[in-house]
Amino acid sequence: MPPIDRFRKQLASWVPRLGAALLVPLFLLTACHDEPQEVPEAMRLSRARGCMGCHGMLRKQVGPGFAQVAERYKDDASASVRLAIKIRAGSVGAWGRVIMPQQTQVTEAEARLLAEWVLAQHAEPKR
Ligand code: HEC
Repeated sequence: MPPIDRFRKQLASWVPRLGAALLVPLFLLTACHDEPQEVPEAMRLSRARGCMGCHGMLRKQVGPGFAQVAERYKDDASASVRLAIKIRAGSVGAWGRVIMPQQTQVTEAEARLLAEWVLAQHAEPKR
């Protein structure tokens, strides 16, 4: 086979490999790009439902920091059920005189998820 034909044949066999070599990373890149950042559903909800307008994760803002809430109820097995109800109904007097208005935009299922998420917060990040 003349060298030029051999070269063509080699080239022909390399093009698909090269194509794959280029396409795979490109595919992975776009696949990763489409993937939303790993934000837990509850954290996303807490922003979408406006909780973070009044609450911080750690310290008191308008309402108590979520880690403070978790600390207070850490030995209370019924806390998640009660807090889920309170999240929708609103609250006053548990932390001070500032009122947490009822959160009617939150469904019962969302309130349960949010309550459990709040109670899972830690003042010190766990390693
Ligand atoms: C307008 C401000 C405001 C918004 C919005 C708000 N909170 Fe509150 N939250 C407060 C205040 C103030 C308190 C303290 C109420 C009290 O002393 O009883 C509180 C208390 C709490 C508590 C503790 C209740 C208790 O009995 O210890 C939880 C849990 C809580 N909020 C979760 C949420 C979640 C989840 C959302 C979003 C759906 C939310 N809050 C939205 C102001 C707010």
